[in-house]
Amino acid sequence: MNYLIGIDIGTSATKTVLFDEECRGIASASAEYPLYQPQNGWAEQKPEDWKAAVIQTIRVVLEKSAVPAKSVKGIGLSGQMHGLVMLDEDNAVIRPAIIWCDQRTAAECREITEKVGYKRLIEITANPALTGFTASKILWVRKHEPENYRRCRHILLPKDYIRYCMTGDYATEVSDASGMQLLDVPHRCWSDEVLQKLSIDPSLLGKVYESPEVTGKITQDFAALTGLSTSTVVVGGAGDNAAAAIGMGIVEDGRAFTTIGTSGVVFAHTSQMKFDSQGRVHTFCCAVPGCWHVMGVTLAAGLSLKWFRDTLGGDYVLRGIAEHRDPYDLMNDDAAKVPVGSNRLIYLPYLMGERTPHLDPDCRGVFFGLSAIHTKADMIRSIMEGVSYSLRDCNEILLDMGVPVKEMMACGGGGKSPIWRQMLADMYGCTVKTSKSQEGPALGAAILAGVGSGMFQDVPSACHRFIAADASCTPQTANMAYYAKGHKLYQKLYQKLRECYGDLAEL
Ligand code: XUL
Repeated sequence: MNYLIGIDIGTSATKTVLFDEECRGIASASAEYPLYQPQNGWAEQKPEDWKAAVIQTIRVVLEKSAVPAKSVKGIGLSGQMHGLVMLDEDNAVIRPAIIWCDQRTAAECREITEKVGYKRLIEITANPALTGFTASKILWVRKHEPENYRRCRHILLPKDYIRYCMTGDYATEVSDASGMQLLDVPHRCWSDEVLQKLSIDPSLLGKVYESPEVTGKITQDFAALTGLSTSTVVVGGAGDNAAAAIGMGIVEDGRAFTTIGTSGVVFAHTSQMKFDSQGRVHTFCCAVPGCWHVMGVTLAAGLSLKWFRDTLGGDYVLRGIAEHRDPYDLMNDDAAKVPVGSNRLIYLPYLMGERTPHLDPDCRGVFFGLSAIHTKADMIRSIMEGVSYSLRDCNEILLDMGVPVKEMMACGGGGKSPIWRQMLADMYGCTVKTSKSQEGPALGAAILAGVGSGMFQDVPSACHRFIAADASCTPQTANMAYYAKGHKLYQKLYQKLRECYGDLAEL
């Protein structure tokens, strides 16, 4: 029997899963690490933490499954997008990675737009300059930490830093590279024009591959650290959302999914390149060669609930320990007892600023309508509803753009929650299904590795063979009517507060 490994380097944890040749999960392991927020709106992680988590979880899955290392034919990498990892001439990490939800680079985004030109930037990179994307982070380091920039020899994305640790190659692939704002997205290669206008040396960047292509093999050093074999190939893989799409079988027009992980994403496959002229949703290359995807991103989805658990939910954590239950399950149970609308409490999920639909680094979270009757359970449900309102914003933009969404799947930690899935069905007014496999990005990365290592013929046929839909939620008419009204008020709140957010940032 042959095996594949999918590794997803997420924001809260790395998850590694070993699959057999029928894509059945055989063993999995995950390891968490911290997120550092040195200032309001900043977000950093240590690449060394990701590396330690990857090594640890590979060792665990190999030990648990007891499969011979040589029978692992391929590894696929997936990971949080956009993060900036800088290596010096000895390949040492220069500074903590500035990650996807960091908002410090508004000035650099203005600089990018001026230097490249708004229209040209969209023509080439398919997106306006965004604080989350890598290019503005590179410019920020060059301006604020010139010594670090001077020492930099290699610029890598999070999963591509792990690839370097595994194979010694400086490489990336089209789906993740699209989020750097340095890629010519229609032509799937680095843009000489953007690099030149921003004075970024192209030799800092890795070679660009398509997602299922082999980029290298495991080095002896990495084999010694993990127990892997040097005969195992590593393929391009994909950014976490593009990888999740493969893991959910979203490989044709009309198919879409919502993921509720740390961030929340509404993602639709498209075989024709389409972009929003206002830049409210992103257009990136997808992991199916020759295709793209359009996605809206809300920054603090699962992050909002995690924030609540960590700051106000201590009693759920303690009860979870006592009852051997996940605190999130207990929080879900309580939210299910609260009526639709959370007793007139509305949450705006802008803890880290927001991308879709506002592109506003300065906005922040709000509980609106808080009254003395409200309990923690109301707050939890309103967080879930606020995130879902934001996902509805994303979905509406895709529909406005004429991207067909005939079927919606749900995945990520939040997608596992039946009440959250029901909320999405009620918000979107369409059936929301889950997939039989819960492994999302890790499964998608493993399928890409199966194609690259020659086990499967191509990405769409592998998805048709191995991925099946599971439970589905249908929209409830009364809930739909409530949420349609609630969404109007939710949208009005941001409009009313927009100016105040600017004032708050200046205080
Ligand atoms: C996508 C994005 C996030 C990260 C983290 O543009 O920033 O979804 O990939 O998961």
